[in-house]
Amino acid sequence: MTLLVTGGAGFIGANFVLDWLAESAECVVNLDKLTYAGNLETLASLQGNPHHVFVQGDIGDAALVTQLLQTHQPRALINFAAESHVDRSIHGPGEFIETNIVGTFRLLESVRGYWSALPLAEKSAFRFLHVSTDEVYGSLAQHEPAFAETHRYEPNSPYSASKAASDHLVRAWHHTYGLPVITTNCSNNYGPFHFPEKLIPLMIVNALAGKSLPVYGDGMQIRDWLYVKDHCSAIRRVLQVGRLGETYNVGGWNEKPNLEIVHTVCKLLDEMRPKADGSSYATQIISVTDRPGHDRRYAIDARKLEQELGWKPAETFDTGIRKTVAWYLAHPEWVSNVQSGAYRDWVQKQYAVAEGAA
Ligand code: NAD
Ligand code: TYD
Repeated sequence: MTLLVTGGAGFIGANFVLDWLAESAECVVNLDKLTYAGNLETLASLQGNPHHVFVQGDIGDAALVTQLLQTHQPRALINFAAESHVDRSIHGPGEFIETNIVGTFRLLESVRGYWSALPLAEKSAFRFLHVSTDEVYGSLAQHEPAFAETHRYEPNSPYSASKAASDHLVRAWHHTYGLPVITTNCSNNYGPFHFPEKLIPLMIVNALAGKSLPVYGDGMQIRDWLYVKDHCSAIRRVLQVGRLGETYNVGGWNEKPNLEIVHTVCKLLDEMRPKADGSSYATQIISVTDRPGHDRRYAIDARKLEQELGWKPAETFDTGIRKTVAWYLAHPEWVSNVQSGAYRDWVQKQYAVAEGAA
């Protein structure tokens, strides 16, 4: 049995692959374009593992995807591949349209070709699991209830609009062609191997480097934070017992304003890596111009996933953020290679060929 994972060299995809192979002997074929966000150094512990096959390539490359499907005959595909950073989508939306919309469309078509020709038993067992975000629902006012799966789609950024479009395509391929899809919409993740352009890892690495900690606007925007390994366990559960054509919201019941997150990171660093002069890292916090169209609040109602599939997060925010800060302190080399871009050279050195066991 084999899984085809796309985007498995990114933050969540790589955590998923590492967790999967730690618990299962089922092979993973990992297709990733290795954009700036894809980092094979994250998967270094899998080097020589015959259960992991890494392939550099684009989900929109129909010939490559078809060849992978034919060769490896996966029982499921999990689609993590995406452009994922809201700020980048504001500066350059083109890549988001290309990968998140056109790429997902091409991927769906390649998978449909493969799936249609499967024998009946394999055909009904096959799953296309699409990993999406709570940002497709738009922004909540302070006292509105959290997003349920029935909430209307109201995306506000080029990123969330492109993810919303991909969700609609996935839904349509189920209703029109019968493709066995399931979609998950998750809140903000944090944890090991998070690229330091997103809030939590950026604050950790900037704090340690003595740089300023830039908080957008008044810092009172609210996100609902989930430890990445809990997202991975939710995906495993949905893959196992999720109902076809359904969407499942994934969240940690951890709504926090950004400023509180930044202060928590500073407090943990003060404890775990106190500054020589005795001052707090919080003195590095500065307020900067707000993000255009900045969504005020996200919150996930994860009751469907809990009640139907029996999933619950294992970490509270307190335990998850402590583990995360400790992980960054313990992995300065991963951080500095990401910051200097050296992880790209590392990939060149370690992987002489594009396809092979990683
Ligand atoms: P990421 O940016 O860290 O990783 C994305 C990965 O996809 C990278 O390895 C990149 O190289 C790869 N990729 C990009 N374009 C590709 C293409 N055309 N073909 C093949 N590979 C390509 O993102 P992430 O944070 O790991 O997010 C993974 C998925 O989860 C995304 O779909 C994102 O929308 C969704 N999601 C993320 C969060 C979050 O908080 N990070 C929350 C909810 C949902
Ligand atoms: P981010 O990690 O980019 O995730 P998303 O935009 O997908 O929620 O940002 C999380 C929140 O933190 C968001 O409200 C924007 C804010 N933010 C800052 O205040 N400063 C920063 O430097 C960054 C990167 C984000």
